[in-house]
Amino acid sequence: MTIDKSEKKVLIVTGSILALFVFSILYARGKYKSDLPECIPYDKAYEVPKVNKIDDLTYQVFAVAQMWSFEPSQIYIPVGSEVDFYVTSKDVVHGFNIAEKNVNMMAIYGNINKTTVKFEKPGVYKITCHEYCGIGHQSMQADVIVNYTNTTK
Ligand code: CUA
Repeated sequence: MTIDKSEKKVLIVTGSILALFVFSILYARGKYKSDLPECIPYDKAYEVPKVNKIDDLTYQVFAVAQMWSFEPSQIYIPVGSEVDFYVTSKDVVHGFNIAEKNVNMMAIYGNINKTTVKFEKPGVYKITCHEYCGIGHQSMQADVIVNYTNTTK
C-alpha cells in the first residue's frame, strides 16, 4: 500500500497533535500533583445515598447527585475524620466540588468516582455542583459538618 504524500503529512500532523495532547496531560498531572479521582467498578448500591461509619474516624459517603440536589445533603463527621467519597449521578453530569479541600470531581450516571478527604479542622464544608446542569444548578449543594464531637446520625 502506498501512502500519498499529502496524506502522509496529515498523519504526521495529527500524530504530533496527539502526542502533544498526551504529553500535556502527563505534564499537568506531574506539575500539580493532582490527586486524580479513582474510577471504580459500577454497582447499583452506590445509588443509595448513605454515610457508613467504618470506625470513629473513618467514614464512607455514597454521594448521589441529581437535578438539583445532593444526597445526603448533610454529612456529620467528627474532626480528624477520613472520608471516602463515592460519587455518582442519577441523571445528567453534575460536578462535585469541595473548594476548601481541593476536591473537583464529576458525578456521572453509571459511573462511580472515588476520592479520599481528611477533615482536620472543624467547620462546615460546602459541596457544590460546578458543572452547569440546568435551571437549578446554582442551588445544588450539600454540607459536610465537621464537629469536635461525634454527632453522626
Ligand atoms: Cu448539578 Cu450543576
